[in-house]
Amino acid sequence: MKVIWVLNGPNLNLLGEREPEVYGHTTLPEIERALVAHGARAGAEVTCWQSNHEGELVTRIQEARGRADGIILNPAAYTHTSVALRDALLAVEVPAVEVHLSNIHGREPFRRRSLTAAACVGIIAGFGPLGYHLALDALMARLGVEGQARQNGLLQGPTASEDAR
Ligand code: DQA
Repeated sequence: MKVIWVLNGPNLNLLGEREPEVYGHTTLPEIERALVAHGARAGAEVTCWQSNHEGELVTRIQEARGRADGIILNPAAYTHTSVALRDALLAVEVPAVEVHLSNIHGREPFRRRSLTAAACVGIIAGFGPLGYHLALDALMARLGVEGQARQNGLLQGPTASEDAR
């Protein structure tokens, strides 16, 4: 089993009621429940956590070192401002995938810049709650657990080990 931490930043606790025209009607507990179930099928023990506080997110990322195999992170508004979160991700060297429910590149100009993305292995934006599931499959593939991603039709072509030959 791989240990995957799903970290959500400020205001994401209000999903479902917060700007539903942008973020949809699904609540964070609903997203988290579906991810835990997906993880169980994919060979991942998924733990979800949310905070409105930048420092708490930094601490949590630091705690991932040696405890989590991968991180799925929606830094929310801190995406666009937080050097501290970027530095934390770089410091711990735990592979992270950045997720945004909305397509940050199709919104206000200040949302188009992510300070955290460069410290992640990849970024998924614009697919709503599905983005977290895509991130989980991508992370598991990255960690060498390709079965579920292949079964979902997300991965095609040679396996990583075939690639390496
Ligand atoms: C968000 C996009 C951010 O710009 C915004 O501040 C959020 C949510 C998203 O998931 O689309 O709070 O990260």
